[in-house]
Amino acid sequence: MKSGINRRQFMQKSLVGAAAAPLVGRSVAGDPGPVTQPVSANDRIQMGVIGVGARVQSGVMQAAMAQPGVEIVGVCDAYSGRVARAIERTNGRAKDYGDFRKLLADESIDAVIISTPDHWHKDQTIEALAAGKDVYLEKPMTLTIDEGPEMIAAAEKSDRILQIGSNGMSSKLQQTAREIVRSGKLGKITLIRATFDRNTESGAWLYPIPPDANQQTVDWEAFLGPAPERPFSLERFFRWRCYWDYSGGVSTDLFVHLMTTVHYVMDADMADMVMATGQNYLHKETHEVPDTLNAVLTYPKEGFTVSLSATFNNSSANESGFMILGTEGALVFQGRELIFRPENPVEGNAWIVASWPSALEKAYWADPEIQKREMPHTWASRMNDVGETWSEVGPDSTVIHMSRFIDSVRTRKPSIQDARRGHHATAVPHMVNESIKRKMPVYWDPEREVLKKA
Ligand SMILES: NC(=O)c1ccc[n+]([C@@H]2O[C@H](COP(=O)([O-])OP(=O)(O)OC[C@H]3O[C@@H](n4cnc5c(N)ncnc54)[C@H](O)[C@@H]3O)[C@@H](O)[C@H]2O)c1
Repeated sequence: MKSGINRRQFMQKSLVGAAAAPLVGRSVAGDPGPVTQPVSANDRIQMGVIGVGARVQSGVMQAAMAQPGVEIVGVCDAYSGRVARAIERTNGRAKDYGDFRKLLADESIDAVIISTPDHWHKDQTIEALAAGKDVYLEKPMTLTIDEGPEMIAAAEKSDRILQIGSNGMSSKLQQTAREIVRSGKLGKITLIRATFDRNTESGAWLYPIPPDANQQTVDWEAFLGPAPERPFSLERFFRWRCYWDYSGGVSTDLFVHLMTTVHYVMDADMADMVMATGQNYLHKETHEVPDTLNAVLTYPKEGFTVSLSATFNNSSANESGFMILGTEGALVFQGRELIFRPENPVEGNAWIVASWPSALEKAYWADPEIQKREMPHTWASRMNDVGETWSEVGPDSTVIHMSRFIDSVRTRKPSIQDARRGHHATAVPHMVNESIKRKMPVYWDPEREVLKKA
């Protein structure tokens, strides 16, 4: 273990004034994050990756390697096939440390990506911070709500950077949405509707299991770690999201993305109340966690309500939908597009006044104010007012999110999704699960940053 100064800071200090050869910096079109400056040789960041599973190998490690001056030098995983593939992706440069504690003990490693199943997040993060590493931790930050304050305290005690990997908030579209909301263009926002709908086995996390997976290639004890003892199971190992021991299911895996967006775009801190239902209708054989969830959250300080909904049994809503509804307009996330739809309400009292005495009905329509609010010509102007659309441009949000982490590592500026923000985005999904289990509303305790005692 080490404390205080790390290898990179030591090199920066010892090379002050030295003419270090600059590496070519890469700036990215449309990148709303930090502008990438040329990087000097003394500013190299050596990264290790704990858990080189699907998420890391399909985007996170590529995002890290795309950052100037960043190299992945070490990996570890509980399934040997993934270790080999990850090393291949670094062109053989990364070393296999076997155990994550050995990787953390290597002082040449400045920062780590932690992308293990959720039951490992707290312990590995706290150990990594104590070992002097800056940490990029994949969402969701926690397995239980009570882990949050412990992780916040560990991050505050250390002088290390902890950034949670909810990359969506770094997308250009979410930044645009945040600016639009801040500008007041939507009027008073009172309702947000967000959904996550799927209808495939892969969408429900019933992933294929590699044919070479067995007790020789899979380290079952390393996987279990702090989780309860269980007999060896490839289903649990590769489809861990289906089990409460390792995951909070749909809520912590998917709603956490929606909640990160709500908090970021709306500049909101935390829900005060959550009321939810959850059922497992069609996945009883394979899932402990529910496949259909609905939740209502209230934000009294900010003055709006959020409605979350998800199912694994129908995908007509196009996987993920998001609507921010204000008195002057709506912002709709649809795929890689953000759409602003202005409100132009037309009153419709014709059928009411048709029951009045004819003279009164006639007088009603003669009023110019009424004509403005209710006459059919306003429909025409409404049709012309189709709003605006923005498309996602520039690099993938994971690349931008990683570039912001690397910027914090270099500058020591606080990360854009720190432990407290990560905790709040995950605490709401935990409250959803708790409300489902208790069959009653649950409340947030802002002092203790956990569930209010019943
Ligand atoms: N930001 C996103 O959009 C996004 C997308 C997918 C997954 N994720 C998150 O990434 C994380 C990983 O998810 P995944 O889909 O890659 O799962 P995965 O099962 O494919 O990968 C997890 C890896 O961790 C390894 N592991 C388990 N215990 C370990 C230990 N003690 N030491 C080292 N390695 C260990 C496993 O062997 C496995 O390879 C999760 O937290 C998930 O929520 C985020």
